[in-house]
Amino acid sequence: MDHFLYQADELYAEQCQVAELAKQHGTPLYIYSRATLERHWHAFDNAVSDHPHLICYAVKANSNIAVLNVLARLGSGFDIVSGGELSRVIEAGGDPAKVVFSGVGKTVEEMEMALNLGIYCFNVESAAELEQLNLVALRLGKVAPVSLRVNPDVDAGTHPYISTGLKENKFGIAMEGAEAIFTRANELPGLEVKGVDCHIGSQLTEIKPFLDAMDRMLALIDRLAEQGIEIKHFDVGGGLGVTYDEEVPPQPDVYAAALLERLDGRDLKLIFEPGRAIAANAGIFVTQVLYLKENSDKRFALVDGAMNDLIRPSLYSAWQKIIPVIERAGEMQTYDVVGPVCETGDFLGKDRELNILAGDYLAIRSSGAYGFTMSSNYNSRPRAAELMVDGDKAYVIREREKLAQLWQGEQILP
Ligand code: LLP
Repeated sequence: MDHFLYQADELYAEQCQVAELAKQHGTPLYIYSRATLERHWHAFDNAVSDHPHLICYAVKANSNIAVLNVLARLGSGFDIVSGGELSRVIEAGGDPAKVVFSGVGKTVEEMEMALNLGIYCFNVESAAELEQLNLVALRLGKVAPVSLRVNPDVDAGTHPYISTGLKENKFGIAMEGAEAIFTRANELPGLEVKGVDCHIGSQLTEIKPFLDAMDRMLALIDRLAEQGIEIKHFDVGGGLGVTYDEEVPPQPDVYAAALLERLDGRDLKLIFEPGRAIAANAGIFVTQVLYLKENSDKRFALVDGAMNDLIRPSLYSAWQKIIPVIERAGEMQTYDVVGPVCETGDFLGKDRELNILAGDYLAIRSSGAYGFTMSSNYNSRPRAAELMVDGDKAYVIREREKLAQLWQGEQILP
């Protein structure tokens, strides 16, 4: 459930009229709902309330400091993949002691920063990274808490670009070599083995791949225990899907209950890294129709938002619902909703039934995750403004980029 609903024929973000916000702040525009973010976070937290756990929101989904701050105030932890994301968490008032650091290519500087801030755990992705982290920790006179990301080799059944749990991709370490690497980690004086983690992919709409992964990881944890390596937490990663169209992904409580059942009384803290499930349906992307045009038998709605603002449709052929901000009565036509960027792949949606005129606003739903964070300045387009609504109030949480910011830091030759 989210808080973007029609009242009569007009779309609201909580108690704010979306059309008024678009008029006041211009388009293209991202609008997030605080109540929806909080609701989704609580859905996870309540689902595992009486078992030791930590919800580490995946910052990459939406890293605006206002979003991070809303979650930090609830007591959220954070899953980060760079020093930049870690800095955002700190800037937003997040607690470094609740941060897990994922990612295959952590630099020495990023390791130092995270060690100095005292993060909860490094999710190490290779034997080479383990050795490097040990050296950095010893140099700083610290002990780095580590988990090893193990690849359970399960098929998440999702888009190949966002499926990460198969052996052939770059993430994690192979299950076969995992015990040897844990043994090594256990010997290194700059490291303390804390946990095991995995992340098998994103936008999963079934529980089974998660459970298959968990079975393999629990078997590994048992084998490690036999060798005297005690694992204190299991980080299941993120990946729970959302409804973009007709998908019916499991709700967080059903998902968590299935995982908890598998734990079967073990004293293992559970860590979750949800990104999309918290942020996607807490945001919309609002764009204005510039022109309507017809080429042979195709109708196009040219809008002021484009692939540089919201790349998921172009990059993954992702389908996101496109709805009018103010509904018109009357006949629908079939449109491709396309942006001004000079690429054939620049579209937000294809073959959509809409009744629209130039000047109308459209909302692309489910844009709160992997929307703004994946945006760029391609075609020298300033990045969109971001708003957060809270009841009947709306706050600018990121100003629209100004043209002069586009070449900030660039230099011409003398
Ligand atoms: N943890 C790790 C280690 C991850 O790599 C990811 C996402 C997450 C957690 C959060 O996954 P989520 O709960 O959001 O599914 N740009 C793509 C999604 C890429 C996901 C990358 N990793 C998209 O727009 O669909």
